[in-house]
Amino acid sequence: MAEIDNTIYEKLGERWYEAWDDPVALLRAENHVKTPWILERIRQNFGETKATILDVGCGAGFLSNALAKEGYPVSGVDLSSDSIRVAKLYDKTNSVAYETADALHLPYADQSFDVVTCMDFLEHVEHPEMFIKEFSRVLKPGGLFFFHTFNRSPLSWLMVIKMVEWLVKNTPKHMHVLHLFIKPSELKDFCRKAGLTVRDMTGIRPVFSSIPLRNYFSGVVPQTLKFKLTGPCLLSYLGYARKETL
Ligand SMILES: C[S@@+](CC[C@H](N)C(=O)[O-])C[C@H]1O[C@@H](n2cnc3c(N)ncnc32)[C@H](O)[C@@H]1O
Repeated sequence: MAEIDNTIYEKLGERWYEAWDDPVALLRAENHVKTPWILERIRQNFGETKATILDVGCGAGFLSNALAKEGYPVSGVDLSSDSIRVAKLYDKTNSVAYETADALHLPYADQSFDVVTCMDFLEHVEHPEMFIKEFSRVLKPGGLFFFHTFNRSPLSWLMVIKMVEWLVKNTPKHMHVLHLFIKPSELKDFCRKAGLTVRDMTGIRPVFSSIPLRNYFSGVVPQTLKFKLTGPCLLSYLGYARKETL
């Protein structure tokens, strides 16, 4: 079975924000849909109070920096020190507390945060249930855990792994491996075992009409690419859970 390659993030540098011939451009485009969805739910739950947020596996800070711009106190953690360097560079608020650390051993006390976010991360690690327990540890009771990951199915293998390899020029080998993808029912179960109850889940998929025909053969992600929320969680999905108060 192929092993995931998580070393690729250490080599991206400013391409995190600049490259269109790399799957990282897909992450950037998807972030335009994820961020407002997450913000809306944080506001619904915490009102005017500025919830404290930890973004785990934050990469170059697409979500952390966007949430900080909205005035939230944000911390961001990633194993890749170079990604953290780039995240800091693009933090216009200069306020995010970034740290290089392993998400399995977070450098924070129990019940430190109102919100933990974890985008496109759980499918990059073995034993995601252990990570979710660690995220739950640092969440305050009543706090929210936001996640985004990929469903394990033949359709995901085709659309998320193979189509990206075929269509986007600089797709690294083993950027994603199917056996680490997570079925929504499994994720619900991992959350339940960590004292978190899933409140909402929604699918996300590309808007195919936002991709000009020529881009299917150019190896480059079009700057027009859009993603949208869908009911079924067939490919990638976004959701959140609440930590039980006991
Ligand atoms: C696909 S990227 C997602 C980055 C970011 N969340 C986003 O949506 O743009 C996955 C990230 O997880 C990080 N990562 C992988 N294993 C990790 C671990 N054990 N602890 C912390 N970060 C890790 C990688 O370095 C990489 O930045």
